[in-house]
Amino acid sequence: MITNSATIFNKDWRFMLGDAKNAQSAGFNDRTWKHVDLPHDWLISQPFNQGKKGGWTSRNMQGFFAWEGVCWYRKEFFLKDIKGKTVYIYFGGAYRNSRVFINGKEAGGRACGYSSFELDISALVKEGNNLIAVRLDNGCEETDRWYSGSGLYRNVFLKVLPVTHIKTWGIQAVTELSANKKQAAVSVTTAIVNKKAGGQGSDAGSKGILYIKLLDSSGNIAAESKTKFDFGGKDEIDVKQNITLNSAQSPVKLWSAQEPNLYRLCAHIEIDGNAGEPVEINIGFRTVEIAYNKGMTVNGEPVKLKGVCIHHDSGIAGSAYFDEVWRRRLNTLKSIGCNAVRTSHNPPAQEFLDLCDEMGFYVIDECFDKWKSGYYASHFDTDAQRDLTEFVLRDRNHPCIFMWSVGNEVENQGQDSMIAIQKQLVSTVRSLDSRPVTCALSPHANPRTLVNAPVSELVKLTKKLVKDVDAIGLNYHEPLYEAYTQGIEKPIIGTECYEYYSSVGTNFEDVSDKNPWQFVLENDNVIGQFIWAGIDYLGECCWPAKGWSGSILDICGFMKPNAYFRKTIWSNEPLVYLAFLDQGIKPDYARGRWSFPPLSSHLNHDNLHRKNVTAVVYTNCEEVELWINGKKRGRRKKSEEKNGIIEWYIEYTQGNIEVKGFNSGKEECSYALTTAEKPQKIKLLADNVNLKPGEIAHIEVNVTDAKGVLCRTEDQFIEFSLEGDAQYLGACSPDLNQHLGFTASKVMTSQGKALAIIRAGDGPGNIVLRAYSENLEGALSRFKIK
Ligand code: GAL
Repeated sequence: MITNSATIFNKDWRFMLGDAKNAQSAGFNDRTWKHVDLPHDWLISQPFNQGKKGGWTSRNMQGFFAWEGVCWYRKEFFLKDIKGKTVYIYFGGAYRNSRVFINGKEAGGRACGYSSFELDISALVKEGNNLIAVRLDNGCEETDRWYSGSGLYRNVFLKVLPVTHIKTWGIQAVTELSANKKQAAVSVTTAIVNKKAGGQGSDAGSKGILYIKLLDSSGNIAAESKTKFDFGGKDEIDVKQNITLNSAQSPVKLWSAQEPNLYRLCAHIEIDGNAGEPVEINIGFRTVEIAYNKGMTVNGEPVKLKGVCIHHDSGIAGSAYFDEVWRRRLNTLKSIGCNAVRTSHNPPAQEFLDLCDEMGFYVIDECFDKWKSGYYASHFDTDAQRDLTEFVLRDRNHPCIFMWSVGNEVENQGQDSMIAIQKQLVSTVRSLDSRPVTCALSPHANPRTLVNAPVSELVKLTKKLVKDVDAIGLNYHEPLYEAYTQGIEKPIIGTECYEYYSSVGTNFEDVSDKNPWQFVLENDNVIGQFIWAGIDYLGECCWPAKGWSGSILDICGFMKPNAYFRKTIWSNEPLVYLAFLDQGIKPDYARGRWSFPPLSSHLNHDNLHRKNVTAVVYTNCEEVELWINGKKRGRRKKSEEKNGIIEWYIEYTQGNIEVKGFNSGKEECSYALTTAEKPQKIKLLADNVNLKPGEIAHIEVNVTDAKGVLCRTEDQFIEFSLEGDAQYLGACSPDLNQHLGFTASKVMTSQGKALAIIRAGDGPGNIVLRAYSENLEGALSRFKIK
């Protein structure tokens, strides 16, 4: 929630990697510093450094980037007419240990790099030129287990407000629906501050009117209200209003993942006839209920959560947050049938939650990973309560959030100290919001003594551990879902699961090929499951990999064969897909249990000529036919196959292979593979060629033969050049083992594919991206900035 008049403060910063004495002072010479626009992650352009071999080190965790370091950002800015005004600077996130200086004086900062925070800088700014300097230090503590990125990697805003104003994150809008879902109301509490009250003895601005309007998606007023307020000598008050939608005039449109209908709540105050700064937030009317043995309902309809866990980096852009990048990734997840996301294991960008509201995803908003170990260890005792409070205040109006999580696989799981900390954190959340709370339990680490223990012991302990939460958050415990259902009267949520295998009994290192999703379907008490992970991410890897590759989408956001498998179990859209079991594909280095049987979906396996191969067919249709070079080979029923996966043993031949999917005897879909000739052309596919200033375009790179068939087996070296007012952010291929880096102007394709990203400048103007390769016909994409 940002005031409308907040100025986006992302342009024209100066950046230096390293420390400098007095870099906060106005006289300091920063002319040699790099010119950058935010969001900016300096870590993603660092060279890789293998460091010490063996074991898990901070370097593995950070994707072998040289992650340690102090850096500075500086920016000059001009203010006018600020007399009697309150001035704030708002950071979406600053990684990490930030110290913010205004005109040489320290204004504050945050240790945690993921928390959004705001500083009141009114006493430090002046009319005319001002200077902000930010020092970040990423080197002084433990890293995360995943790639954190570093820098001012989210949006920054500047706000100049009248002294009496609506507080940042000061609106709490609680929606209410009648039992038949036809009548809707919102109970709005608005915190208003008067910065002149108290200390400075001024009475001006202590009385006024608060106006609230609720607009539907067409901009029509669905409800409105006004209330007088009086500070009565206080410097902060809460104003409560109940507004009821006129359902006779326009029936309420409910929010759900399928139909994410939003309303816009606009609030402003008026003092002595002068209107103050408007604040706008999106809200949605929906009921979400979870109950023991009943599962989850949204607006009264049963829903199973088809979820993925994600980290916040996006490969090429590192941790820098761009809406377009996440919209593209979420769109692909949605197309697979995914309806839920867990923001593992830290506060996400607030704009990411806006996207989930708008696109329709159920979100577990997770604040912490470990508590007193890992990246937060040295701050937990001092900062946890404040950071958690601000996290809930920032996020609590999002309709997408259906559950909070206060931790993941915490270090003291099973001990009394865990129960005590959890109780405290949960009560902080409950004091601010009424949504359910969970904490994800590790099955295989803590306490170690329970590995292979009788199930009754696990149930007994877990019952104690979940006393203060609303749902049993289980990472990888699928075979125990039933015992927990019998022994603990709370709903289960699979906060993490492998994508293909599930564990066996209480031995979490032994796996079977019963898909974890089966356990969700079999048990009404399980409200859903979140795959680890939805999208490949940087970090948590062994050299030469730079990231975790056990996800359903690769680092470019392309669907892997596993994503098609997932789509056949999560989506009703008729689908059939074919790939070959292929032990020869490049290793992907995700740890075994999290990986997927090795598959490749092409018809260029020269080494397999005249050999029998296993063709694996995924489908959600009743029957499938296989056709090889125009001849029907056979027809199979999905229901007769183990796990619903059809395996066809065929003699490998090149040419054309096709599978067709049938429902009630009618062909509904097909999928074909054709043998590619030698690589001849580069093909570029841009997702948007008419760009607004600052907007991102993704350019998908395909290497094809003369007829346009994708050549998946020969990696090609491609170089890019960019003309026009735009920034080339970088390129990558699905292969996380590459050493070129993400911001280089060249890329080695993998699976015939790569991705490049550009960002439009201020425009207007034209942009051209060219792609070259020594042995291929080049290609270009043209863009316009409007
Ligand atoms: C889980 C953990 C995740 C991730 C995953 C893969 O146990 O919660 O954060 O590390 O393992 O290693």
